[in-house]
Amino acid sequence: MSEDQFMGNLYQRFPVTIEKGVGAHVWDVDGKEYIDCMGGYGVALVGHKNQRVNDAIKEQIDKIITVHSSLYNKTREEFLTLLIGLAPKGLTQVHLNNSGAEAIEAAMKFARKFTGKKGMVAMKGSYHGKSFGALSLTFNPKYRKAFAPLVEKVSFASYGDMESLRSVIDDDDTAFVILEPIQGESGIIVAPEGFLQEVRKLCDEKGIVLIFDEIQAGLGRTGRLWACDHWNTAPDILCLAKGIAGGVPMGATLVRPDILASITKGEHSSTFGGNPISCAAGTAALEAITEDGLIENSEKMGKLFREGLEKLKEKHSMIREIRGKGLMIGIEMKFEVKDILMGLIKKGVLMLYSGRNILRILPPLVISENDVTQVLHALDSVLTEEEEKRNVQG
Ligand SMILES: Cc1ncc(COP(=O)(O)O)c(C=O)c1O
Repeated sequence: MSEDQFMGNLYQRFPVTIEKGVGAHVWDVDGKEYIDCMGGYGVALVGHKNQRVNDAIKEQIDKIITVHSSLYNKTREEFLTLLIGLAPKGLTQVHLNNSGAEAIEAAMKFARKFTGKKGMVAMKGSYHGKSFGALSLTFNPKYRKAFAPLVEKVSFASYGDMESLRSVIDDDDTAFVILEPIQGESGIIVAPEGFLQEVRKLCDEKGIVLIFDEIQAGLGRTGRLWACDHWNTAPDILCLAKGIAGGVPMGATLVRPDILASITKGEHSSTFGGNPISCAAGTAALEAITEDGLIENSEKMGKLFREGLEKLKEKHSMIREIRGKGLMIGIEMKFEVKDILMGLIKKGVLMLYSGRNILRILPPLVISENDVTQVLHALDSVLTEEEEKRNVQG
């Protein structure tokens, strides 16, 4: 692939050159069609070539492309109003930025300034991005070890374990606790029942800011608008990115007003953050999510997927566990999944991995019942082929 001449060896790449997409389908340069369960790592939330998003971008381009946040803009105002109208209770302020990592960086600074404390607590298995601050909160040593020293004063608690969390909190110094209600990169780990509520209570008791990273799990992905809705719990700061602007880069840090009030002019900013193209696309994406039945479809198709996958688990002993909510699904296998991913590509299905032995499904929320059936069928036949191969080799 000619791109490889220029892009170093930074990404695990697949031998497919994508040219175009519609809904949950993409086509390569040779015209071969794929069902997109990769979904741009969760970015293609509202589907490829979403009509609302495309129209909004085209309309905005004809007005103006860039307006810095030191000036006012009606497109931005419209987006902020819509976003805050949907936000979890108490989050009435927003800092707009350009990526997941940036949304996390802002949250870290806001929580530390507000509390005047320095200690940070994240979870084992966490993934919050790869800029220095976000990387410091990301658990996997594979990502961290070459870049030490990272930001100081980060402790990791075991996910879902209140004892472990209590043991790393310093009453005099912990500024915030950050967690993903469903951990994405570490294999779709759903918070155990009661955990989010308990963490909320503990943070309230100790005056610690609670940050939820819903960069992957938010905006309808799990069959509810916010992943934390599954546990009726709201954070003090909510980080969003990925599909929030229909595929155009945007990150958003939603904040309690008293927390944001602690930041003074110039202490945090972003040149591109809140640009009118992202905001126009963002309004269209939020409308698509809330008005076009996408959250309901995510719940329904997610259920269909998981039921079908449980049947495949009975048939194929190489499947260890199925996890997830809505259209955020992990399939843990008993061995590496690279060959399965390559086999699926041959059959016209793009899927993600999440660690070496876990398949991850993050399709656009517009995926149809027919697509789900086809994906399950493709996976069934790839697993059968794998088993035959292993039996012959074995
Ligand atoms: C939960 C979570 N947080 C943060 C990030 C980082 O986002 P970005 O790659 O846009 O910096 C990701 C990206 O996969 C993520 O899944």
